[in-house]
Amino acid sequence: MSTIIRGGTVVGPYGSAVTDLRIDGEQITALGAITETPGDRLIDAGGCLVLPGGIDTHTHLDLATQGTTTVDDFNTGTRAAVLGGTTLVMDFATAQKGETLAQGLANWQAKASGKSWCDYAFHMAMLEWPAGRADEMAAIARQGVTSFKMYMAYRPAMMVEDDEIFQALQATRSFGGTIGFHAENGRLIDELTRERVASGQTHAYYHQHTHPVEVEREAISRLAAISELAGNVPCYVVHLSSRDGLTEVLRANRRGVPLRAETCPQYLLLDASRYGMANGDDLDEVSGYVISPPLREVADQDVLWQAVSDGSVQFIGTDHCAFNVHGQKDAGGDDFRSIPNGAPGIQLRMELLYTYGVEPGRISLERYVELNATNAARYFGVHPRKGILAPGSDADVVIYDPRGTRTVHQTDLDENVDYTPYEGWRISGRVRDVFVRGSAAVLDGVVVGDQSGQFIACGPSDGAIR
Ligand code: URP
Ligand code: ZN
Ligand code: ZN
Ligand code: ZN
Repeated sequence: MSTIIRGGTVVGPYGSAVTDLRIDGEQITALGAITETPGDRLIDAGGCLVLPGGIDTHTHLDLATQGTTTVDDFNTGTRAAVLGGTTLVMDFATAQKGETLAQGLANWQAKASGKSWCDYAFHMAMLEWPAGRADEMAAIARQGVTSFKMYMAYRPAMMVEDDEIFQALQATRSFGGTIGFHAENGRLIDELTRERVASGQTHAYYHQHTHPVEVEREAISRLAAISELAGNVPCYVVHLSSRDGLTEVLRANRRGVPLRAETCPQYLLLDASRYGMANGDDLDEVSGYVISPPLREVADQDVLWQAVSDGSVQFIGTDHCAFNVHGQKDAGGDDFRSIPNGAPGIQLRMELLYTYGVEPGRISLERYVELNATNAARYFGVHPRKGILAPGSDADVVIYDPRGTRTVHQTDLDENVDYTPYEGWRISGRVRDVFVRGSAAVLDGVVVGDQSGQFIACGPSDGAIR
């Protein structure tokens, strides 16, 4: 028995056409006008878009960090993800200090296995650079984790030094991997924090002023120089937030440094007015937006929209790092130093990007598909298995019905967290049906699948994507 998705607008990175798509087992087996045979399951996609399943390049599920633990785990987080059309999450498996990378990876495999409603892959976050780590990276790459992560901020818990970055980048060359960087200057953040605290400016409002664009800009330019010194090693900036940061990425690209960039819906849609006033607004209102890098200005959003549209930024991850406002964000009172950094967003990525990107004409449908899935699949070495609707690819398919609108309410979301940064926002259309490797995961907006998501091994990175 085949599943035939009939009469939708099938969108790929190179164009779209109204046609049919056939699924047999876990794979797509045909595209084009398809004649059904008795017993086939027919899914009417008339008036809908048929898209490759989304790849969220940046999630923090079940992560112990900043003195607490993120509230979405692989069960609740991937369930929300799949409802929003994401069929592959790329989570940050983290080797805590003192652990080997193999131990960190085994811990993450255990957290995800048997729990995930969609497929999952890992970036391996490295919080330190002990002797022998380069060999460990090569060994982890053989286990299907070819993308790593380092933090240039968050002292002393996570930050690494320039020489360590240099050695890590050199190490990725042996297996064709990549490293994503949280690119902010951690020492400057600490100094700016010390100054604010010394003058009694500790309200959540001041978080943004301890992470100004200069600290992002400086870190990106330093990263580009280190990559260059290491022989132009592919690497990317995670959660790029600012015009100044983008300028540094493009400057590096012009020199031939293969530096790529991910941004997030929050940097495209939300701005620093969310932090309220300097006299300290209601902590419950403000703390949900305490993230790093912080929200920027409307002018930065305009530049980032242009960058996702013209290919200067290649991926959109959510940086889903969910903490409750009540009990986690507010646990230490109104002092930005005690508010865990992070915000939720795993469920709405594709719908927000459709509503505020495609519908107003900021990005084409083809670009939407590239940003949602194809670029990440190529860059992280899972293409053409993932990220494209083509015969032989995994049948990770989203049917998006662009008709109708709704208003976002946290109470309607399946994220396991007590707020959404998008409360009251309008969404156009909806993710109607989702297939993960050929199995229906969501039908008519309702979860019908199970927790049979699989670990997806990544291959060498295609650093050439633009
Ligand atoms: O504030 C943020 N972004 N928290 C999540 C961890 C990170 O820096 O990506
Ligand atoms: Zn980060
Ligand atoms: Zn993150
Ligand atoms: Zn509260």
